[in-house]
Amino acid sequence: MQDSFMRDSLMQDGLMQKSVSPSGLVDRFGRGVNYLRVSITDRCDFRCVYCMAEDMRFLPRSEVLSLEEIAFVCRAFVELGVEKIRITGGEPLVRQGVLSLLQQVGALPGLRELTMTTNGSQLPRMAADVRAAGVRRLNISLDTLNPAKFKAMTRTGDIEQVLMGINAARAAGFERIKLNAVILKGFNHDEAADLVGFAVERDLDISFIEEMPLGEVSGHDRELCFYPSQRIREDLQGRFSLTPTEESSGGPSRYYRVEGARTRVGFISPHSENFCASCNRVRLTVAGRLLLCLGNEDSVDLKALLREYPGDMPRLKQALIDAMVLKPERHQFNIYEQPVIFRHMSMTGG
Ligand code: GTP
Ligand code: 5AD
Ligand code: SF4
Repeated sequence: MQDSFMRDSLMQDGLMQKSVSPSGLVDRFGRGVNYLRVSITDRCDFRCVYCMAEDMRFLPRSEVLSLEEIAFVCRAFVELGVEKIRITGGEPLVRQGVLSLLQQVGALPGLRELTMTTNGSQLPRMAADVRAAGVRRLNISLDTLNPAKFKAMTRTGDIEQVLMGINAARAAGFERIKLNAVILKGFNHDEAADLVGFAVERDLDISFIEEMPLGEVSGHDRELCFYPSQRIREDLQGRFSLTPTEESSGGPSRYYRVEGARTRVGFISPHSENFCASCNRVRLTVAGRLLLCLGNEDSVDLKALLREYPGDMPRLKQALIDAMVLKPERHQFNIYEQPVIFRHMSMTGG
């Protein structure tokens, strides 16, 4: 009884997932796929140093999936058992028509949760509409509280706009808001405790992320800037008491509760604490590639299929089922070598 009450309340908080549904999507290692991440644009108003090169060339319109094509792929996945969809970018809120896409995807029967990851810059004007369109939980990137460092890490961003965006999201009544901070030694590694303090004061969750080597970046050396999650936990100990929990938001974050607060502190540690064994997700890039793993290039060209056989749902579903055999066992990240993954994070939305 107690257990089921606990489970229900965690589910309401979005911090526990139902066991994997009897999905038609199962890979060679027996992992069921019930979570789809969809990048709806490679464009962004920021140029974060870990995500993009300073000078980026974006895809021409003809190479980008239309919103109708994206919605069609989402429907196929949900009919095959996917229960959670996260909309990402680039920055998803800079894509024209994003709100109607959210409404359409959010209304798919069988989908339990529609979520979004954003840099926050458009939230001052859009937070209420995003909430009204059916997004219940929001992840907002915030790597630093220092305006000059914020400018240095995002190259073009204005922290005031993002802080206003976080306030707008809080006012819009999202069930849970999580901050994401990519921690880089020499940039923001000394700010973890302040960021947790910021989250606690506002009743937000926060995840600290180890940088992943996707695409060539300029301006910092990934090996020198690596700052492992364990170091962050040590840095936090002086100010906060953290207790590990089994709660999960369905992603790779390992969570800790902050004593005396509702805040959960998560650690996404692709290098130091591999989480691939429990991977439950695949990704759709804005160019229509179905990526079976963030840290490998195995993929299926769904755009070609969608354009050769428009509206052919059975064929699309079969292609998704067949794609599962391509899902690799684990990611291949190595910060000590040149990136083996040439696409930037902005193609896949993390
Ligand atoms: P939930 O889905 O709610 O748990 O959120 P999340 O924290 O997984 O999603 P978010 O979009 O906020 O991503 C945070 C970080 O997790 C990003 O840097 C992602 O790249 C990373 N991430 C998410 N899934 C994977 C994965 O399968 N492999 C790796 N290596 N990183 C991932
Ligand atoms: N490594 C880790 N996280 C990254 N993000 C973007 N690029 C990288 C990277 N190279 C994060 C963003 C955002 C999330 C979607 O991915 O900060 O929070
Ligand atoms: Fe834009 Fe997000 Fe990449 Fe930063 S991490 S450049 S905000 S897509």
